[in-house]
Amino acid sequence: MTTTTATTAVTGAVGTAHTRIEGREKVTGAARYAGEIPFADLAHGWLVLSTIARGRIRSVDDAPVLAMPGVLAVLHHGNAPRVDADYVGMLGKPDPVVGVLQHDRVPFVGWPVALVVAETSEQAREAAEALVVHYDQEPHDVAFSAGRPGTYTPDGDAMRTAVGDLESRLAASAHVVDAEYTTPEEHHSAMEPHAATARWDDGRLDIVDSNQGSTWVADELAKLFSLDPPSVRVRSEHVGGAFGSKGLRAHQVLAVMAATVLDRPVRVVMTRRQMFSLIGYRSPTAQRVRLGADPDGRLLAFDHQGQSLSSTVHEFVEESAGFGRAMYAADAHHTVNRLVRLDVPTPTWVRAPGEAPGSFAVESALDELAEKCGMDPIELRARNEPAVGPVSGLPFSSRNLLACFDEGARRFGWADRDPRPGVRREGRWLLGTGTAASTFPVLVAPSTAAVTAEADGMFTVRITAADVGTGARTALTLIAADALEVPTERVRVRIADSDFGPAMIAGGSMGTRSWGWAVMLAARELREKLVPGGDIPPEGLTARSNTSDVIGALAQKERHAFGAQFAEVAVDVTTGEVRVRRMLGIFAAGRIVNPLTARSQLIGGMTWGLSMALHEEAVRDPATGGLVGPDLAGYHIASHADVPHIEADWVDDPDVEDPVGIKGVGEIGIVGAAAAIANAVRHATGVRHRSLPIRPDRVL
Ligand code: MOS
Repeated sequence: MTTTTATTAVTGAVGTAHTRIEGREKVTGAARYAGEIPFADLAHGWLVLSTIARGRIRSVDDAPVLAMPGVLAVLHHGNAPRVDADYVGMLGKPDPVVGVLQHDRVPFVGWPVALVVAETSEQAREAAEALVVHYDQEPHDVAFSAGRPGTYTPDGDAMRTAVGDLESRLAASAHVVDAEYTTPEEHHSAMEPHAATARWDDGRLDIVDSNQGSTWVADELAKLFSLDPPSVRVRSEHVGGAFGSKGLRAHQVLAVMAATVLDRPVRVVMTRRQMFSLIGYRSPTAQRVRLGADPDGRLLAFDHQGQSLSSTVHEFVEESAGFGRAMYAADAHHTVNRLVRLDVPTPTWVRAPGEAPGSFAVESALDELAEKCGMDPIELRARNEPAVGPVSGLPFSSRNLLACFDEGARRFGWADRDPRPGVRREGRWLLGTGTAASTFPVLVAPSTAAVTAEADGMFTVRITAADVGTGARTALTLIAADALEVPTERVRVRIADSDFGPAMIAGGSMGTRSWGWAVMLAARELREKLVPGGDIPPEGLTARSNTSDVIGALAQKERHAFGAQFAEVAVDVTTGEVRVRRMLGIFAAGRIVNPLTARSQLIGGMTWGLSMALHEEAVRDPATGGLVGPDLAGYHIASHADVPHIEADWVDDPDVEDPVGIKGVGEIGIVGAAAAIANAVRHATGVRHRSLPIRPDRVL
């Protein structure tokens, strides 16, 4: 086994560290984001959100506000253009919050009830804050707890799996863990708030946006407003973070409505606080894990019951119980995802949806089982490695979990570890180390790309990719350069314009894999068209690709990336403060296109795992139904001083099916990270924490 950092045995641009193509533009401020691109005659919309958690809007007192300086319009359910939110988009039915201002019902605190449009952003804000909305309030219920009345198992194959007789295998087990784990509501509040500008341009709807997929947003807007798809153009050149939250949301819809009513460009930017109710979030989870093992630590029974919440208006499931389906072999293997519907905003995808909270529960339970078996936690995992997918029975495309543990254990110094809890002391600090496994599915979705040989010797790639801060544009530049066999300086990659044609979104850790595949095919095609020494016409020579057929023909397999997470913590015995001293993550996540940005992605995920373990917790007030302190002062995230030296690296694991060898690195970094820290806290203190975050008041 080798580490790839130095050994990726391919020449060319892919596999070499490359700073971001647009890095200079970003650090000098030349790169403009959706909320700051200038437009002539621009008007500004300000959102007004409900202050009640359930009920009806009785009236909106728009007259006094319409008389305020600069105010152009107040849109509300009584006067807004009609839309049709009953459609199916690229990722299913939309959250009904996009069908905004269509009726008087209020299903949660923070539901959009009006948009005030004015000449300036300040005028719009002042008027929005002055707008009086009268409600008929109804009783609400926002209290999430395990197994509470109304909990059900949604329809769908992803909700439940069952192999073997669970109860008999549990009864036959020498060692049993039966524990409940909880994770709180968590928010992905990207640095760049959601913003969109809409205008009508010669009969076409033109949107400048911040999103994870311009095809996705354009397609949904066309459906919502019943427009011909070619008459909608969405662009999203620079995006300051997304993490699952940046698809179609209420603000783009409201910007289009206002631009239509006023016949001028309208921009709507969310405030930080508005983001906490309008963009989705990670549902809290309550999870029960039951593991049964024989005296040698071989799993006889694996049972994972996950529960999350959704709104009353839309069914979204945080599929925490999906995590174990590819992880461990067991005679009996059961998983189920349950749901309860409350008067809260609809949750959505947040980095490693399902896997992030699911791995906390399962990888903590594995650690508990290792203790009961008197076995090293890595050895326990090794003993339960499956030959094929434990639930699917399908072969793995590749599975290098143990290689990650081998390399990680070596570099972390795991061999010297004394397994006894609570025995290492350094002054007022108790010290401990922990480990956990990580995995994320490897997926790919059809995309189209165009590559043009220009008359001046440059090559232009056009693809509706999104660079949400990951370095996707740079990765695609390296991929295109190698495919064309030219230096990166001769490649120009243009992204994030729905006019370039359909492509996968930046999501599911499958953006670069999906786009890279399409770019490879188009580049190969172009090379065949190019005649050596031949002239390029002034308009250039273009080749196009569509990966639908090749992806549709892939065999059924269990495709995953894997990883091993390690953490060392120090716990203050007087205050309960937990300091993470170091983290190491070793991943088997395909061929690494750009080590510089891939490492940043992995470290970013691990940092979020630290934040999840120790800090993040959105608190919902049962009295109002709203969040307490919904901003980055009230919602604690790890700050710089909380984050120690974090190392991320990888083992050689090129995907054999992907033309570049990519698996994807967007989400796996967070998976298992919180469990590694919780396991380290247990090792340090002897106290097992099954509820996140591990706050000082809960520690000792
Ligand atoms: Mo990501 S949560 O797949 O956008």
